[in-house]
Amino acid sequence: MRSITIIGANGRLGAALAREYSRDFEVRAFGRNELDLGNLDHVRSIVSETEFDLLINCAALTNVDYCESHRDEAFLINAMAPGLIAKICREKSARLIHISTDYVFDGNAATPYTEETKASPLGIYAESKLAGEDEVLKVSPDNLVVRLSWVFGPDKPSFIDQIIQRAQEHDAVAAVADKFSSPTYTIDVVNWLLLALDNEAQGILHLCNSGACSWQEWAQYAIDVCRGLGIPTKAERVGALSLSDMKNFVARRPLYTVLSTANFTALTGVQPRHWREAIAEYISVHISKK
Ligand SMILES: NC(=O)c1ccc[n+]([C@@H]2O[C@H](COP(=O)([O-])OP(=O)(O)OC[C@H]3O[C@@H](n4cnc5c(N)ncnc54)[C@H](OP(=O)(O)O)[C@@H]3O)[C@@H](O)[C@H]2O)c1
Repeated sequence: MRSITIIGANGRLGAALAREYSRDFEVRAFGRNELDLGNLDHVRSIVSETEFDLLINCAALTNVDYCESHRDEAFLINAMAPGLIAKICREKSARLIHISTDYVFDGNAATPYTEETKASPLGIYAESKLAGEDEVLKVSPDNLVVRLSWVFGPDKPSFIDQIIQRAQEHDAVAAVADKFSSPTYTIDVVNWLLLALDNEAQGILHLCNSGACSWQEWAQYAIDVCRGLGIPTKAERVGALSLSDMKNFVARRPLYTVLSTANFTALTGVQPRHWREAIAEYISVHISKK
C-alpha cells in the first residue's frame, strides 16, 4: 500500500490519521471544504478522480442531538455517501475502511458487545450510522467497518479536554456516573488500523482502549493525572451526575456500550493498551502545565 485518501480530515480522528500516515504514505486528505458528503455528484467526481490504494472515511454528521431533527441530512452523510464511496472504491479495486460507532447498540447489555451482537440503535444518528455500515458492507463484505467509542485525541477537543478545562476554572465539576464505555485514543487507532489491514480484516471490527469506565471515572482519572504531573486544577474531585440529569440532551444515549476487542486481539495478537495508560500519555504530551 502506497497512497491513502482520508475523508473527514479536519475531524478529531481524520486529522490524526492524516498527519500520522503522512510520515510513511502518500496521503490525500479531504476536509468538508474540499469534499462535501452532502453533494453526491461532487463525491463521485472527486473520489473517482483521486488515486489511492486505501480510503478511510472518518467524516460523519456526529452531533447526535442535531441529527434528531435533521434525519434526511444524517442519512445522506452517514449512510448514502458512504454507500457511494464504497461503490467507487470497488470500481477502483481499492480498500475501504469506514468508521462507525458504539452507538449502534441500545446499551442494555451488561457485558461487552461483540461484532456478532445484533445492533439496535436508539436515535437518528445511531440509525443513520448503522445504515452506513449496511450500505458499505452491501457493496462488498470485504470492506472494513471499524466501530469506535468515546474518541479523544490532540486534534480536536472532546469531553476529556472540556472537563479538564472546567476543573481548571471552577471549584466543583461533575460528570455522568451511570453511562459506561471505553475511551479510544486517536493516536492508538493509527497503528490498530494498519495492523487490521495487515491481517486482512474485513466486515465489522470493534476497536477501543482496554477497560471500561463511566464519564465520571474517566474525568476523575484525568484530573488525578493532571495534578500528579503538576498541572493545577481548582476542582480535585468529580461529582456524580445521572444521565437523566442531562436535560439538554435531545437524543437518547445508550447506557452501556463497552465494545469487546477480542476479535481484534485474536486477529492481530495485539491487545489495546488500557485507557488509563492512553489518557496518561495524552495528558503528559498534550496538556500544558501553563
Ligand atoms: N467522537 C466520538 O466519541 C465517536 C465515538 C464513536 C464513533 N465515532 C465515529 O468516529 C468517526 C470520526 O469521529 P470524530 O470524533 O473524528 O468526529 P468529528 O471530529 O466530528 O469529525 C467528523 C468530521 O466529519 C466532517 N463532516 C461533517 N459533515 C460533513 C460533510 N457533509 N462532508 C464532509 N465532511 C463532513 C466534519 O466536518 P466539520 O468539522 O466541518 O463539521 C468533521 O471534520 C465518525 O464516524 C464517528 O461517527 C466517534
